[in-house]
Amino acid sequence: MKFKEKIREIQDFPEKGIQFKDITTLLKDGKAFHAAINQLAQPFRHQDIDLVVGPEARGFVVGAPVAYALGVGFVPVRKSGKLPGETLSYRYTLEYGENVLEVHRDAVKPGQKVLIADDLLATGGTTRAVVQMVEQLGGEVVGLTFMIELLYLKGRQLLGHDNITSLLKYKQ
Ligand code: PRP
Ligand code: MG
Repeated sequence: MKFKEKIREIQDFPEKGIQFKDITTLLKDGKAFHAAINQLAQPFRHQDIDLVVGPEARGFVVGAPVAYALGVGFVPVRKSGKLPGETLSYRYTLEYGENVLEVHRDAVKPGQKVLIADDLLATGGTTRAVVQMVEQLGGEVVGLTFMIELLYLKGRQLLGHDNITSLLKYKQ
């Protein structure tokens, strides 16, 4: 499956100079979506994983089906004010602006092995926030998986983890 052909590139969104990688064109293609999720889940099928954690919003679209494919639970990390239970909040800066993420404090138990999933690894700011939230709850991040990795933004280097996989890598 040539997944790159399924991603629509849009110039100057959300700001001039940024070439947005639009995954909606892949998601609406049933065969491509199914194959992409299976391929993302594959390397983790034989790894010891208790939970997949994904950040709102596009991390839900990738993380929940990956969790389903692996037969493990899914934990949402949400933008602030959305979760009803007791939460851990985390403020961070990203490519375009500032953000606050929250997770339920009882969502990850100490010692649980976590796979983080999102659609895109760009600067790594979002994922680093999610890693730190999982670790503050006592979870262990054992892997990270993305549909798209923008190599030139060096998110992988920021994260410094040895088990990062991505389906599609863009050099520019
Ligand atoms: C986008 C994308 C990743 C993040 C990647 O999310 O879905 O989560 O940015 O960028 P980074 O590696 O530089 O942090 P965004 O916050 O735009 O929101 P969305 O998922 O709700 O669309
Ligand atoms: Mg996102």
